[in-house]
Amino acid sequence: MDNTESIWGIIGGTGLTAIESLVVDETWMPETPWGAPSAPLHMGHLGGQRVAFLARHGDPHRIPPHRVNYQANIDAFRQAGVDRIIAVNAVGAIHPAMTPASLVLPDQLIDYTWGRSSSFHDDNLQHTVHVDFTWPYAESVRQNLMAAAAARGVALHQGGVYACTQGPRLETAAEIRRLEKDGADIVGMTAMPEAVLAREADLDYACLALVVNWAAGKTSEVITMDDIHTNLNAGIGRVLQVLETSLSRA
Ligand code: HPA
Repeated sequence: MDNTESIWGIIGGTGLTAIESLVVDETWMPETPWGAPSAPLHMGHLGGQRVAFLARHGDPHRIPPHRVNYQANIDAFRQAGVDRIIAVNAVGAIHPAMTPASLVLPDQLIDYTWGRSSSFHDDNLQHTVHVDFTWPYAESVRQNLMAAAAARGVALHQGGVYACTQGPRLETAAEIRRLEKDGADIVGMTAMPEAVLAREADLDYACLALVVNWAAGKTSEVITMDDIHTNLNAGIGRVLQVLETSLSRA
């Protein structure tokens, strides 16, 4: 592996198991102390930038959010020499302005998950690590994504609180009311522990979220996978535009 070039990591979530425009020249399945990542890293160029792409849920999509090996995934990027990560996450909307198919760049998160290994130092009491996580997302990567969205004329909500729930089920209406009271704007299942592991690994990391449904109880409708896929299809093109442009501006 040639680690001399700056490499951006991209984590594809639901609806993004591959990037067609990524010219892949190497597929690499690293071994990590935490086991295998969700899928091989696809190394190549996008927007003139060296990129390592990883499908968070595997390719094909088969790993639910609570079973993703987040430690192995982040360690795989570290081994590949990645220094910055853009994570793409499908989410539900709590905030009324964050309508389905819109893009959100959260600046905060609240972690409601449980039982997920959330540190590289779980078993190392000699080396307890308490990373600063006041601002969970890297401002440099967020700024880059904002500039890219502006350059492409793509609307992007610049800030918001991501509530990360355990899943794989969706929430009850009462749970969403509680998250709203807590200050959450969007809800998803994959922000954590991915973001904190990136912080522990000293990788600049930001989340580009695509709203795929109104959160439970926000409309009188039940949430269907068909509706989620319709909104994914409606928004993923804009996600790719922002991604490619942000890489070409890196
Ligand atoms: N809740 C949690 N995770 C999600 C949702 C949701 O409504 N939509 C997409 N991921």
